[in-house]
Amino acid sequence: MNKLTVFAAGVCTTFLASAPFAFAAEKLTFYCSAQEEWCQVVSNGFQDATGIDVAMTRKSSGETFAQVKAEASNPKGDIWWGGTGDPHLQAAEEGLTEPYVSPMRSELNDWSISQATSADDKTIGIYSGALGYGYNTELLAANNLPEPACWKDLLKPEYKGHVQMANPNSSGTAYTTLATIIQLFGEDEGFEFMKGLHKNINQYTKSGSAPIKAAGRGENTIGIVFMHDAVAQAVAGFPIKVVAPCEGTGYEIGSMSIIKGARNLENAKKFYDWALSADAQSLALQVDAFQVPSNKGAKTSPMAPDLASIKLIDYDFVKYGSSDERKRLLKKWDDEVSVLPQ
Ligand code: G6P
Repeated sequence: MNKLTVFAAGVCTTFLASAPFAFAAEKLTFYCSAQEEWCQVVSNGFQDATGIDVAMTRKSSGETFAQVKAEASNPKGDIWWGGTGDPHLQAAEEGLTEPYVSPMRSELNDWSISQATSADDKTIGIYSGALGYGYNTELLAANNLPEPACWKDLLKPEYKGHVQMANPNSSGTAYTTLATIIQLFGEDEGFEFMKGLHKNINQYTKSGSAPIKAAGRGENTIGIVFMHDAVAQAVAGFPIKVVAPCEGTGYEIGSMSIIKGARNLENAKKFYDWALSADAQSLALQVDAFQVPSNKGAKTSPMAPDLASIKLIDYDFVKYGSSDERKRLLKKWDDEVSVLPQ
């Protein structure tokens, strides 16, 4: 053996010895549908806790559902965390997600587990929050507008051009709004409400929390959002008042699902268990995410909306998360509401 061969063999041995680490870098492809800042903290938190490299993408709940469905024959994502529960339930029904029973279940609130049992363990609740709206008090005063307190107040002609919500196709927040209005007023009256509201809407955004962020910046007056998203703007120092509508309101069970055919299934399960822990859920407070956590031991902020003091409807998650119903209502909204002149 000449010197070069010995050197090459040495390099080869060293290379092979380290190869398993170099090539098997542990990975997780993470689809996130909660607010961007929280997605980032959760992504970094899991990476720090496990050393697993996380590639995170944030998209709204309906958009992520559409992506998971489009990728079903060649799945790219491993775990889908956050966003409203309805599209997670639809994904479960359509066989796009994987059943898993986590050992962490004993630490969770009942509402989180019932989300799982209603979907053959293909999804689970990670947080909860009530729907409502918020308004910019300075813009309201500057425009001489009355203070709204109820859903039906939002139909008043004086609010024309002052109300913003997301598009229910892309956004779970907006789909929850549509389903809430139907559950409160019945389907016929509910669609009449959505048509009346349409006249006052200045823009349908893609993401659910965008309308209240715009209100915080002074670019919009009233944003229909989850109340915790409005609280976050007020806590950030913007002149936002949060409203729990007088007729009562719906709520979400923010959910998590493992994607069927996940390339990194074991890491997806590690993430799932970690994300249900009190420590992981308490990370929400670092970014003023004021949802109610599903782990009973996770910390909640005193500024979080108190769900017990809000008039909540008995939201039918199974019905409004079913594939047929969600498709039917979205099509009806597309055909009968979104096309109307404003
Ligand atoms: C915000 C809320 C979450 C909710 C999410 C849904 O981030 O804080 O509680 O789950 O919106 O997002 P989407 O864009 O689908 O309405």
